[in-house]
Amino acid sequence: MTLSNVPLVPAYVRAPLAGYLGSLGVDRTLAPYDLAGSIAHAEMLGQVGILSPQEASTLVLGLRQLAREIREGSFPWRAELEDVHTNVEVRLTEVVGPVGGKLHTARSRNDQVALDERLFLRDAIHRVGTSLLELESTLIRRAEAELDTPMPGYTHLQRAQPITVGHWLLAHFWRFDRDLDRLLATVQRANVSPLGAGAVAGSTLPIDPERVAARLGFDQPFQNSVDAVSDRDPFAEFLFDLALLSVHASGLGEEVVLFVTKEFGFLDRASALGSGSSLMPQKRNPDAAELVRGQAGRVVGDLVSLLVTLKGLPLAYDRDLQEDKPPVWDALATVTSGLSALRSLVEGLVFDRSRLAEAAGDPELLATDVAEHLVARGVPFREAHEAVSAHFLATGGRLDPAGIGEIPGVDPSLATSLDVRSALLRRSTPGGPGPSAVAKQLESARSRSAARRDSLSSLGRKVGLVEELLNEG
Ligand code: ARG
Repeated sequence: MTLSNVPLVPAYVRAPLAGYLGSLGVDRTLAPYDLAGSIAHAEMLGQVGILSPQEASTLVLGLRQLAREIREGSFPWRAELEDVHTNVEVRLTEVVGPVGGKLHTARSRNDQVALDERLFLRDAIHRVGTSLLELESTLIRRAEAELDTPMPGYTHLQRAQPITVGHWLLAHFWRFDRDLDRLLATVQRANVSPLGAGAVAGSTLPIDPERVAARLGFDQPFQNSVDAVSDRDPFAEFLFDLALLSVHASGLGEEVVLFVTKEFGFLDRASALGSGSSLMPQKRNPDAAELVRGQAGRVVGDLVSLLVTLKGLPLAYDRDLQEDKPPVWDALATVTSGLSALRSLVEGLVFDRSRLAEAAGDPELLATDVAEHLVARGVPFREAHEAVSAHFLATGGRLDPAGIGEIPGVDPSLATSLDVRSALLRRSTPGGPGPSAVAKQLESARSRSAARRDSLSSLGRKVGLVEELLNEG
């Protein structure tokens, strides 16, 4: 039974401010996820008997045709249809006839957009995760090659104690690895299907949200229809993950910027992959590192933008939620390009080993070693600290190996091992920069990275379901 012809532009999107309300420019990106979600929904409607098998299969085939049109660029997008969801439904009806009007049975754009966003998020996390994994491998590889390159470790940006370039690179590895871990945890929490929540209160028709959830590779369907249509935690968490990742990237960018200065001279400045100055012929600036550093501001802004949008919203769906996408799209694009630039940057860094050796050879870096030498001989640490510090004051801020025996309690033969190599060998405590500790650290970094690779490939299988649904048959 059909009641009447549905006009080309359905009444619900005909509005005086249609141009202002529309979101097609932003949510078109969701098209593949929208279509895959609709295919799963149509199949379910057929399976539970709300649609006949024939009707369900007509809808599914029609939706696959739309997927082809979108891929080939022939899909007739119409801004007056407000968003991706209505564009798809109207076009489907053009392609398959009035049965297209049955697709939206027991569904609202509220649960639909929430579903699309979760499918999008899985894909986005898979992409960011894959770039992070590449950066991880690059950091590991570069670290392996610089395990014996001493450098000063800094606190307060003052030379503090000796480390190695390898240990420094691995420090960045662990930050990014926590980012990857967070993204994987986010997607795990987010892998819940909201479809079937309807506008806010489910449906009077016998739908089966569990079926749709399973078909789309979700771990489970929603528990509460009110929560399901309003929950944007996955996007908020994702933006936090990206914001912290960007903060980490900005720290690495900053260190590259510092290390290529003549003042530090730890890195060859051409290896910072920047460009020149339009005025000063001699300049070669570390632009890529600076941009990575600077873009963190935008990503943090994206997180704040979403949180402020969400703050104080009454349950359940509010149109404010349409504003959830631009910050996510922006942060994703920014982080994706930033990570790829950062990977090239790390790949190409050329360390000036002699300059690093000179900086790391500063005897001041070994003041703690002298204090710990006294501790090993039974002196309470606080007294040892006082004694070495008094020596510093007396010598005008110098720790001269030749004069080391003047410190009360110090065995003068310590002078023969007051060099950076011996100091590194002494630092064999777990997680420290000594060669034996770093070998273990490298081992766990490698196995951690391999585990992440496995998690990402199982996520990849879920992400792949979207394309499978669009192409099947
Ligand atoms: N464009 C909307 C969004 O992104 C889709 C949901 C619209 N729902 C509604 N009741 N108007 O949030």
